[in-house]
Amino acid sequence: MADTLPRVAVFVSGGGSNLQSLIDAVKAGILTAEIALVISSTKKAFGLQRAEKAGIPGRTMRPGRDESPEEYEARMLALLDEHKIDYIALAGYLKLLPLGVVRKYRHRITNIHPALLPKFGGQGMYGHHVHEAVLAAGEKESGPTVHLVDEIYDHGRILEQIRVPVKPDDTPDSLAARVLEKEHRLYPRVLQKLIKGEYDLD
Ligand code: GAR
Repeated sequence: MADTLPRVAVFVSGGGSNLQSLIDAVKAGILTAEIALVISSTKKAFGLQRAEKAGIPGRTMRPGRDESPEEYEARMLALLDEHKIDYIALAGYLKLLPLGVVRKYRHRITNIHPALLPKFGGQGMYGHHVHEAVLAAGEKESGPTVHLVDEIYDHGRILEQIRVPVKPDDTPDSLAARVLEKEHRLYPRVLQKLIKGEYDLD
């Protein structure tokens, strides 16, 4: 039975609290998938330790010194093939995916972003930079977005968002915490809907 579950690779670069929310959602039966692989852009990411604790294979992937972009892409595709990956969930992953991966997994790669895209997205907009920009712009609300990944940074079709208030005394940290709590709720549910074919993607 477990063999028939869709197999998800989660990509991380840091703490991996969103990875944890996906692992927990699988355990709770909210997400009917197998987290079959965790790929990190750095071996220091705490997300790799979360994977190990959950018994999920973890790998660090980054371009080798003498490796061409084509070779790196082929290596990543081979790793995904080896683990029979059906879906990719980016969860605080701070690198661009090779184009061949984006193309092969079209409509099957999601990303979570800590602001209401299309505002406050694009290169350099990650983590606390996003919340600082939201506060500097005087926004009255923020919140996480889950979107499909295409060839352009933070650009793919928006699947869902949750809105939270920005409070007058917010700091980047307090806003980040309010948004992150909603991320953990949003991501497993959106992934489940995507896997169940509940979004009209044409
Ligand atoms: C999350 O807030 C996620 O939305 C953000 O990084 C954090 C990762 O936290 N992603 C981006 O900013 C992508 N542009 P986590 O490692 O604890 O899941």
